[in-house]
Amino acid sequence: MIERISRIVDPSKIDYIVANHVEMDHSSALPRVLEVAPNAKIFATERGKTGLNEYYAESGCSGWNFETVKTGDELKIGKRTLMFIEAVMLHWPDSMQTYLKEDNILFSNDAFGQHIATSKRFDDQVEDVMEDAAIYFANILTPFSSRILKHLETVGKLGLQIDMIAPSHGVIWRNDPQRIIDAYAKWASGASEQKVLVIYDSMWGSTEMMAKAIAEGVRASGTEVVLFHLRKNDWSMLIKELMECRVFALGSPTMHNGMFFTMGGFLTYLKGLRPKDKKVSFFGSYGWGGGAIRQMEEALKNTKMEFVEEPLKVKFRPERQDLEGCRQLGIKLGEIARS
Ligand SMILES: Cc1cc2nc3c(=O)[nH]c(=O)nc-3n(C[C@H](O)[C@H](O)[C@H](O)COP(=O)(O)O)c2cc1C
Repeated sequence: MIERISRIVDPSKIDYIVANHVEMDHSSALPRVLEVAPNAKIFATERGKTGLNEYYAESGCSGWNFETVKTGDELKIGKRTLMFIEAVMLHWPDSMQTYLKEDNILFSNDAFGQHIATSKRFDDQVEDVMEDAAIYFANILTPFSSRILKHLETVGKLGLQIDMIAPSHGVIWRNDPQRIIDAYAKWASGASEQKVLVIYDSMWGSTEMMAKAIAEGVRASGTEVVLFHLRKNDWSMLIKELMECRVFALGSPTMHNGMFFTMGGFLTYLKGLRPKDKKVSFFGSYGWGGGAIRQMEEALKNTKMEFVEEPLKVKFRPERQDLEGCRQLGIKLGEIARS
């Protein structure tokens, strides 16, 4: 990075560094940058300054020259002007965005980002960028949905003309950047589609048979359904699908009186994301005392997710009538998703 900066400017002549975010993937080069640009002043939020001090105390951060900024503060850099916008909890307390006034570019930090690695620079040069942005939103920003709505309002009130959005991850939005702003407003409002997800794991195939029969029922009801195996499918994609659906079913075999370990990990992750307006149903196979369903219900008890339909338990291998029960559950879930 320093080699590339050096091609444009002698680093020792750098006057200002904008630190939009403390997290290590954004800030870990700072100690090295300050070595080659010792006179530079760092612009960060108050929390940003505190966070950088906590991360880089051993790198001599206490000797760095900070200026803390708030929303609306400006910095003149010759022909151009930078304006700072605090973005608290998008997605850390210190987060900040920077707006380049003369060129109408928003350096949006984590917001509007995507986790894709590409040599391409712009949104119109890569396929499915919106899907990548949705995966990013679902996995990183869902818990802060109400903050996002408020932030969009604040930025709206500032009346900024935004021609380009340059996030800190992924490609730059230059082709109608309003579309990603609108998508954020939609995702943050919890808007969902008429879709059912069936999420499960299985050791010996019984819970899987149930999952497939439930999915068949959903399909028979005329509703879209997606099946997810917790060890065969990618969880980031699963969370994105879950953000979009209205109803989901969770299936786990009983292991050692409780749910299967992947389901335990998944529910810990899901709870933290606090998705809005979701309905959930439970199923699973057991051998003797059971326990998986009880534990799954316990895990989601104090969330805003609504439990629908009676849980379906099957002892060992499901028989024809058990699978018909699963199919019926699927039909009901499909109807709930469309109601
Ligand atoms: C390691 C292991 C531990 C298990 N522990 C329990 C248990 O504590 N209680 C129970 O009811 N069944 C228990 N079972 C039985 C399974 O729940 C049962 O075989 C079930 O049908 C497995 O579903 P699956 O085919 O979807 O994996 C256990 C099975 C295994 C392999």
